[in-house]
Amino acid sequence: MDKIVNNKIKLEFMSIGENVALARITVAALVSQLEITLNDLEEIKVAVSEAVSNAIIHGYQNKPDGIVTLSASLKGHTLILEIEDHGVGIADIQKAMEPAFSTDPERTGLGFVFMQSFMDEVKVFSQVGSGTKVILTKQISADLKNIAVS
Ligand SMILES: Nc1ncnc2c1ncn2[C@@H]1O[C@H](COP(=O)(O)OP(=O)(O)O)[C@@H](O)[C@H]1O
Ligand SMILES: [Mg+2]
Repeated sequence: MDKIVNNKIKLEFMSIGENVALARITVAALVSQLEITLNDLEEIKVAVSEAVSNAIIHGYQNKPDGIVTLSASLKGHTLILEIEDHGVGIADIQKAMEPAFSTDPERTGLGFVFMQSFMDEVKVFSQVGSGTKVILTKQISADLKNIAVS
């Protein structure tokens, strides 16, 4: 059986580290409405974690009173995730997305690399002083022999 799901959710949460897990689990629960492989599920969880941590760590510079918005929609087999913050924004998006580039010397600079390798499309919109929106898209097609248990 090849399930088709049409669903849409929106979650707003404070910019605290604990909410990275909240966002990851929420998206995992949503995509588990589809027949999804463990591999796809894990990849989506990593991509969500990277985008949400960026909003908290970079966007809001670890200040806890920012609001992060996560919208997720499933249309057939297409997953679209939007992660938005109203933080500091990104001056040079192209540079920020380069492998190993980070404005924080303690970090690896691989967040966008993971998002790009695990999702089919990564779009970034940002303005300095107003914030950042990351749109992640992935086609989910089930391998019926290898379905994650939900
Ligand atoms: N939401 C965001 N708001 C502001 N800057 C961001 C945001 N997301 C990413 N950036 C910038 O892009 C850079 C690269 O991000 P990333 O690839 O995840 O690496 P890392 O998080 O390890 O620095 C960050 O160092 C930061 O300067
Ligand atoms: Mg990062």
